[in-house]
Amino acid sequence: MILKTERVSKAFGKLQALLNVDLEVAEGEIFGIAGPNGAGKSTLFNVIAGAFPPSSGRIVFDGRDITKLKAHQICHLGLTRTFQVPRTFATLSVFDNVRVGATFGGEDIRIHREKVNETLAFLGLEEARDTPASNLDLYTTKLVMMAACLATGCRLLMLDEPLAGLSMIEIASFLGVVRHINRDGGITVLMIEHILDSLIDISNRMLILDNGQVIYFGDPEGVRTDPKVIEVYLGEGDIQFGEDA
Ligand SMILES: Nc1ncnc2c1ncn2[C@@H]1O[C@H](COP(=O)(O)OP(=O)(O)OP(=O)(O)O)[C@@H](O)[C@H]1O
Ligand SMILES: [Mg+2]
Repeated sequence: MILKTERVSKAFGKLQALLNVDLEVAEGEIFGIAGPNGAGKSTLFNVIAGAFPPSSGRIVFDGRDITKLKAHQICHLGLTRTFQVPRTFATLSVFDNVRVGATFGGEDIRIHREKVNETLAFLGLEEARDTPASNLDLYTTKLVMMAACLATGCRLLMLDEPLAGLSMIEIASFLGVVRHINRDGGITVLMIEHILDSLIDISNRMLILDNGQVIYFGDPEGVRTDPKVIEVYLGEGDIQFGEDA
């Protein structure tokens, strides 16, 4: 297991955003996370990545207890994430955006120039190298966010709803890039996504959260017929089998 959470809980005042979440991610897999709005998905990423500590429970990455570490320390160990709302530095070029991401954790900028170039090439972003981030379309912005993560030299990448706002063609293309990162880059991927068809298709295993609790863990195809999952999604009225985002 490259990542494990053991009975991880997080409360915001009276709101129990996560309750006893057990998660195990194997090295080399693409692991999918879904669940209705407000289920606690982004909060789970936040506690894993060290944005804030869990209220209780333990998080182990690569055999190390990272529960109390800060975000930059966790990043340094090889675990990085993208944010649900696309974030780039508008006036900086693609190259500089990726370089800033790669130096998160205080590494010497010179060490990373080669790694940044290598990452831009790996994601087919060389031509956009000098473009200011504000001039990029949403799809390319998302690739740049991913490049900034990869250039840290991470082993585990967490993507928070990366397909949101993309067209069908862009979704197919983006999923191809995720597979490329996973297969050819050797990166383990943990991905939150609302579009269940896409997530079922790309994931080796899946977890469904509802009200901060795990209601499903295992085979992606089983999600389609699991009574609890169906009930939760029908209740929310936002199930997305075979629909566009
Ligand atoms: N920093 C915070 N302070 C207070 N409450 C928060 C905070 N972050 C999240 N919450 C609350 O915790 C619950 C879970 O939120 P979270 O963002 O993890 O859900 P989500 O599953 O990612 O939802 P979505 O699909 O809409 O992105 C929500 O009720 C949210 O309002
Ligand atoms: Mg979220």
